[in-house]
Amino acid sequence: MIKPHGSIVLNPLFIKDAKRCARLAVEADKLPSLLLNSAAAANAVMLGAGYFTPLKGYMNLADAISVAETMKTDNGLFWPVPCLNRTDDIDSIKSAKRIALRDPNIEGKPVLAIQDVAAIEQISDEQLVRITKKVFGTLDQSHPGVATFMTMGKYVISGAIEVLNFSYFEKEFPDTFRTADQIRNEIHAKGWETVVAFQTRNPMHRAHEELCKMAKDAVNADGVLIHMLLGKLKKGDIPADVRDAAIRKMVELYFPVNTVLVTGYGFDMLYAGPREAVLHAIFRQNAGCTHLIVGRDHAGVGNYYGPFEAQEIFDRIPQNELLIHIFKADNTAYSRKLNKVVMMRDAPDHTPEDFVNLSGTRVREMLASGQPLPVEFARPEVADILMRYYQSEEARMVG
Ligand code: ADX
Repeated sequence: MIKPHGSIVLNPLFIKDAKRCARLAVEADKLPSLLLNSAAAANAVMLGAGYFTPLKGYMNLADAISVAETMKTDNGLFWPVPCLNRTDDIDSIKSAKRIALRDPNIEGKPVLAIQDVAAIEQISDEQLVRITKKVFGTLDQSHPGVATFMTMGKYVISGAIEVLNFSYFEKEFPDTFRTADQIRNEIHAKGWETVVAFQTRNPMHRAHEELCKMAKDAVNADGVLIHMLLGKLKKGDIPADVRDAAIRKMVELYFPVNTVLVTGYGFDMLYAGPREAVLHAIFRQNAGCTHLIVGRDHAGVGNYYGPFEAQEIFDRIPQNELLIHIFKADNTAYSRKLNKVVMMRDAPDHTPEDFVNLSGTRVREMLASGQPLPVEFARPEVADILMRYYQSEEARMVG
């Protein structure tokens, strides 16, 4: 099976031994504690689940700057996005060597992990601007990832962590949340060798379904890993439970049995386009996949990134840094002329009108007002699930 990133074996930081975990929980109650922000909590979950192998914890300032500028840590590990624990309030942990990290996303703020504090460093405005610009490509505060990143705190707390649980993900998504080692085990049990990963934060329509099928055929894969983001999204994005139900229905009805694993991971969306695509590749390699689909505007938001920037970044990465391969997908849509979903590069004679394309806004409007989506765009059973959501009180409240 494909090797994890920068390591011979996967290195999940979750403490599997139940007794040791219980002992650490008792210790944690006596330690000075820090309430994490959601991004730092998500980093802990990813570290715990092995997706961030070979990292051992949160980066220090030098690593964060180096990663932002060169996509490498100070000691040369290829890594695209700083993995940080930042805060504005260090009063309670000032001279502590070991601290309990509390989970902001669960009532009662239970301990999520224990950290050995290697350093507490203050990040200057100039350093923060440099890192943000490199990672997100913009300083615009209307970019949801930039807005979060810029306000996460002026102190960087670095050091190794031990993870005690997977936050709310296991409880809320028991059938879907999977760690990287669980996925590796499932791939191994199925005897799959070539596995294509599909990253998603949206429900899957015809284009996405066909992208998975096209990629699987093109690389002659044994299976597809649909790997959805289960963490926090920006306002207006569809909640994970609704996406999960819609994706499961699509797989059940439209994929041959035993060719797809429907899974998810506990991370908040960064909307960092190209840099996030590289992070996506690393953690799919860690999950045992040989290929990752990167299509149009992967991990993008608004018009901050060019439609294929998230593919182009891979052309600048030295060959030996990543073992996983990127399946670069062109804009994909249903062709009225060919009566099937195609990549636009495979239909050079088409005009835009030959494709069935709907904007996200139009899709929302149609579903909210009870109009069925064209069957060329969405599977009716998937559209039904989404329509129920858009007509629900919950959707009205999120706006
Ligand atoms: S993402 O933020 O997780 O990338 P989304 O769930 O919409 O967003 O996309 C999942 C994957 O499908 C990404 O690789 C994206 O580039 C690709 N994709 C989505 N829609 C299309 C499309 N119409 N044509 C080509 N690729 C697409």
